[in-house]
Amino acid sequence: MYDFQSIIDRADTGAIKHDMAPEPVKSAGFTPLTIADMEYKTPPAIQNAVIRAAEHGVYGYTRADDAYFSAVRGWLEGRFSYAPERDSMFNTAGVVTALGMAVRAFTEPGDGIVIQPPVYPPFRFAVRNNGRTLLENPLLYKDGRYEMDFEGLEALCKKSAPKLLVLCSPHNPVGRVWTAEELKRLGGICVKYGVFVIADEIHCDIVHHGGKHTVFATVPQMDEHCMVCTAVSKTFNLAGLSCSNIFIANKARRDAFDAVATRESSDIIPYFARAATIAAYTACGEWLDEFLMNIEGNFNQLDAFLKERLPVLKLIPAQGTYLAWVDMRSLGLSDKALEELMLEKALLALDEGYIFGTGGGGFERINLALPQTALESALLRLERAVRGILS
Ligand SMILES: Cc1ncc(COP(=O)(O)O)c(C=O)c1O
Repeated sequence: MYDFQSIIDRADTGAIKHDMAPEPVKSAGFTPLTIADMEYKTPPAIQNAVIRAAEHGVYGYTRADDAYFSAVRGWLEGRFSYAPERDSMFNTAGVVTALGMAVRAFTEPGDGIVIQPPVYPPFRFAVRNNGRTLLENPLLYKDGRYEMDFEGLEALCKKSAPKLLVLCSPHNPVGRVWTAEELKRLGGICVKYGVFVIADEIHCDIVHHGGKHTVFATVPQMDEHCMVCTAVSKTFNLAGLSCSNIFIANKARRDAFDAVATRESSDIIPYFARAATIAAYTACGEWLDEFLMNIEGNFNQLDAFLKERLPVLKLIPAQGTYLAWVDMRSLGLSDKALEELMLEKALLALDEGYIFGTGGGGFERINLALPQTALESALLRLERAVRGILS
């Protein structure tokens, strides 16, 4: 039994979520439910591995060695039947870093890049900050479920000839775990129109109710047409170690990415990330199983609470991630008024739906990786604030 219920004081650790939380929530001492890290300790096996690495005392430049690669590959092969080659792996200081590098490696200024909003905001920043053209193929929202708009994508490809598509799989914030069929259909369109796919699979391990995540590179014929981005950071709460594992099977694409990596001196890993990653991928499967049960419990708690006490708010059923996506549009508030209600009346720090771009307005993203007592407190504050404007 691992501990997912103790409240951990993260104040003055430099934690962005806590130390830089919006003022009303910070001074009231409530747990923020924003940025995607967890209010749980990393598994004991990882903590011990990092302590052992600290005791060594020399923290020099470090590169992914065979022990590191074999742990990464063992995990991906065991969980997803994905067995990447050694020379297809790159390590970057995070997936967002890799996205920017991919944009610079695979496109020229002005080229079109497709994203499917509402989606993790750095996708559009990676496009715009590098002077490329943002092309949106928004997700379709039907009967409480999100789908990809395949016809929309095909039309966009015909009209605008994009060079890349950035796929979020599983999808943050809507919680979809795309099926193998959906990915095949997406891949078919991308191959037909020569669109290379950047598959951000950072949430791949966090899939609920025994569901199955499909690594995009394992979809028939897609291995040569994609770059797969993975990391231990979301799964084991290690974002502060800044390390991700990126796979590119296609040789020409690999050379292009390598040129950017060399230019930007991005070919080392943080010393502590090596120890943490090896421990995570060789000794923490059981922790992950318990973590998933705990998160499913938190989703159930939120769902039951909303159905019983705040039926005006609708939880979108999540197949993956620890991020809940809640439809608050029937409150009829502007984005600004909704934000004020959450922050000032409910003393809740959430990620506002509008930051996820097209289709996000009127929704809130709620991080559920926190102890039950903190979640209960948040829900009671939410109820009071929402009832206050309904009465
Ligand atoms: C879809 C997605 N990609 C990337 C990241 C961040 O990745 P990194 O910290 O490795 O840059 C997040 C964090 O929330 C995310 O949700």
